[in-house]
Amino acid sequence: MASVLIVGASRGIGFEFARQYRAEGWTVHATVRSPSGRAALEALGAQVHRFDALDEADVAALDEQLGEASFEGVIVNAGVIGSREASTTRPPESDEFALVMGTNVLAPMRLVPALAPRLVPARGTLAFLSSRMGSIGEADATYASTYRVSKAALNMVVRLAHIEFGQQGVRVLALHPGWVRTDMGGKGANIEAATSVTGMRAVIAERKAHPGGTFVDYTGTPVAW
Ligand SMILES: NC(=O)c1ccc[n+]([C@@H]2O[C@H](COP(=O)([O-])OP(=O)(O)OC[C@H]3O[C@@H](n4cnc5c(N)ncnc54)[C@H](OP(=O)(O)O)[C@@H]3O)[C@@H](O)[C@H]2O)c1
Repeated sequence: MASVLIVGASRGIGFEFARQYRAEGWTVHATVRSPSGRAALEALGAQVHRFDALDEADVAALDEQLGEASFEGVIVNAGVIGSREASTTRPPESDEFALVMGTNVLAPMRLVPALAPRLVPARGTLAFLSSRMGSIGEADATYASTYRVSKAALNMVVRLAHIEFGQQGVRVLALHPGWVRTDMGGKGANIEAATSVTGMRAVIAERKAHPGGTFVDYTGTPVAW
């Protein structure tokens, strides 16, 4: 039976990944950083682990909790948007910068060496929730600029992980989920999490159409780095 790990699955897009993969009979490992979301994930039949992206010690703790588990898929979803202002008019506060960069960039950099080897046996996929807002080629607005900078940096993490682990058969992807109705996306967003995740799961499943080292949205359309 195929097995997937979703990092940051308490709500929103991460929870929907857990729901859909469980509905298809996958073994699902899911992380939460607080009791919030744990019961709902356990009710789905997911194996739940505690992981706070801002706590360096939690990477080793998660690694230990996972034991010998290997995966067909790992989805690094946990993310924060921080201030929605533009740093071109108001530089980010140090605390906000540390929160956004710590969650969206440093944590993924710590997770790559811990989790990518678990994808080698199955030649699996390591997918990161990026954002079109991190695209340099398609940048057309300045609001939430710390978030934009963090996702642009995350995209480089994706490319580096692809160079390193692609040689071992691991496919590393940067995914744009669309503008999704979640706590982060807000009520005015374009699509439901179910639509976004159905699309991203199709992208993850289509290895030939979407090779490692690519940045693609939930419809399978490439996004400029
Ligand atoms: N929604 C959109 O329109 C949109 C668009 C582009 C990209 N994205 C990306 O998609 C991903 C998911 O977004 P979403 O809309 O589902 O966001 P969300 O509803 O705000 O959920 C964020 C998730 O990240 C977790 N998280 C945040 N900080 C964490 C930490 N320090 N440690 C562990 N988990 C942490 C949250 O856990 P808690 O419940 O414990 O806070 C929650 O599970 C993010 O990476 C986001 O940047 C979203």
